[in-house]
Amino acid sequence: MNMQNNSDHPLPLETLTALCKRRGFIFQTSEIYGGLNGFWDYGPLGTALKNNLRDAWWQDLVRTPPIGPDGEILDIVGLDSAIIQNPRVWEASGHVGGFNDPMCDCRESKSRYRADHLMVYVPADKDGTLFACLVGDEARAEKRIRKEAKADPAAYTVKPVTEIPVADLPRVWGPDAAKPGTLTEPRQFNLMFKTYIGAASGEDNLAYLRPETAQGIFTNYKNVLDTMRVKLPFGIAQVGKSFRNEVTPRNFIFRSREFEQMELEWFCHPDESQKWYDFWTEARLKWWESIGVSSANLRRRDHDPDELAHYSTACADVEYRYGFTAPDFGELEGIAHRGAFDLTQHQEFSGTKMEYFDQETNTRVLPHVIEPSSGLTRGVLVVLNEAYAEEFVPKGDQEGGPIQAAPGQQPPEGYEKRVVMRFSPRLAPVKAAIFPLLKNRPEIVAKAKELYMDLRTTWAVDYDQTGAIGRRYRRQDEIGTPFCITVDFDSLENNTVTIRERDSMKQTTLPITEVRAWLATHGL
Ligand code: GAP
Repeated sequence: MNMQNNSDHPLPLETLTALCKRRGFIFQTSEIYGGLNGFWDYGPLGTALKNNLRDAWWQDLVRTPPIGPDGEILDIVGLDSAIIQNPRVWEASGHVGGFNDPMCDCRESKSRYRADHLMVYVPADKDGTLFACLVGDEARAEKRIRKEAKADPAAYTVKPVTEIPVADLPRVWGPDAAKPGTLTEPRQFNLMFKTYIGAASGEDNLAYLRPETAQGIFTNYKNVLDTMRVKLPFGIAQVGKSFRNEVTPRNFIFRSREFEQMELEWFCHPDESQKWYDFWTEARLKWWESIGVSSANLRRRDHDPDELAHYSTACADVEYRYGFTAPDFGELEGIAHRGAFDLTQHQEFSGTKMEYFDQETNTRVLPHVIEPSSGLTRGVLVVLNEAYAEEFVPKGDQEGGPIQAAPGQQPPEGYEKRVVMRFSPRLAPVKAAIFPLLKNRPEIVAKAKELYMDLRTTWAVDYDQTGAIGRRYRRQDEIGTPFCITVDFDSLENNTVTIRERDSMKQTTLPITEVRAWLATHGL
C-alpha cells in the first residue's frame, strides 16, 4: 500500500479532484455555467477508466462468473432495461411510498440537509445557543462556538439533530445561517426524480427516473426465464445510470444525484438462500481485491437489524477507507438478502405469476434473491484513491528506483517529486505510450508510428513525440500508463525498443517483434 491512502496519511479529496480536473478524468458538469451540485462529467480518461471497471465487472460476473461454493459453474446473464419505467414499478418496489430521507431545511440560506448528516453541539446552559454542522465539518462549528459563544467546544455535548427537541430548534444555529432559529424540523423527503411523459404534464403523465437498476431486473425476470432456458439458481446482471435527488450530494463522486450502478440479482431456492448470501458476501470482497484494491483498505460490515432497508432481511457492506472517511470506512457495495420481497410485490401489483416451476421435482417456488449492488462511479473513486501516490525519483531520469513519499515531504538532494497513478494494467485508461526519442528524425518517427499503429489494434495506446523524454514519462505517470516504449537510434540499427515500467521505473530493451508478447505477459 502506498503512503497516501493509508490511515496515517489519508489522501485529501482536494488533491484527487485537482488531479482529476488537471488530467481529464472528471469535470464538474456544465462548468462554464457554474456547475450543478451533484452532477459530474467524465473526461476522456475518466470515461476510459469507468468503462474498464465496468468491463472488468462484466467479464468477471457475466462472462466468467466465479465458481460456486460446491464447485458448480454459475449461470449469469446480462440485461439493459429502460431508465424510465411504468410508475407502478416504483409503487410495487416501495420507492414511491418509502424511499425517503428525513431532512432539515434552512429557511434563511435555503440549504437542505440530510438529518442523519447534521450534528448539533448542545451547551450545558439551558438558554445557550446550539450549533449545528455537517458531519466532517466539525472544525467550522467549533470555530463558531469560540467566536459567537466565547466558549470552549469541549464543554458541549454533540447529538444528531433528530435528538434535539422541537422546542429547542429556535436556539439552533444552522451551518450556513447568519443567525440561530432558521432550521426546520426534520421532514421526510422523497428521493425520486420526477418527469412527465409526452406533451401533457399532468399527474396522469407522471413518471420517475429509476433510483436503482435492480427493479428493471425483477420486471424482466419472467422474460429471461421464458427465453434463456436458465435454471434456478441463476443471476441477472445490469450496469447503468441511476438517479436520486440526494439531499446532500457530497464528497466528489461518492454521493451524486446521477450515478451508475453495477447490480446482480441472484435468484435461488429459499432453502439455499443463506448459503448464497454467504457466498456472495465473500466473493464480492475478494473481487475488489482482485482488481487491485488493497485488503487493508477494505472490510466487510454486517448491518444491524435496525439499519436494514425495507426490502432486506440481512445485508453486509463492502466498505472502503476513503481519504475523507479515514481512519473510518464508507460504503462501496451492499450485499442484501432481499428474500422474496420484490417478486412478491411485482406479482401482487402486476397480477403476473412470478413462480419458478422446477421440472425435476414438479414443484413451484417463489425464488429468493441475493443482491450484490455496487456503485460503478463510486468504484471509480475507490480506484482513483487507491492508485494515487507521490514519490521521489532521481532527477533527470538517472538510474535509481522511486522512493515512497508522504504528502508534504520534501525530496532529498538529487531527487524530485513525481505523482503516479498506480492503476492495475487491466484498469489503466492508457495501456502503453509510444515515444520516438526525437521528433525531427523521420526514420525514428516512422518506426514509432508503425509500432503505435500496430499496438492500437489491440490496446488503448498513446503516441507522444513532444518534449523531453523525462517530461513525457511524468505525464504518463500521472495518468497511470503502466508502460512507455521508446524508439531510438538503436531501434534503427538493431530493431529494438526500450520499455519502461511505471512503478519500478525499470527499463528493458527487447526486439520490436517481442513487444506484443512482453505486454501480454505483463498484465495486458
Ligand atoms: N438495489 C439496491 C441499492 O440500490 P443502495 O445501497 O441504495 O442499494 C447500491 O445502492 C450502491 O450504489 C451503493 O453501495 C453505492 O455504491 C451506490 N450508490 C448509491 N447511492 C449513490 C449515490 N447517490 N451516488 C453514488 N453512488 C451511489
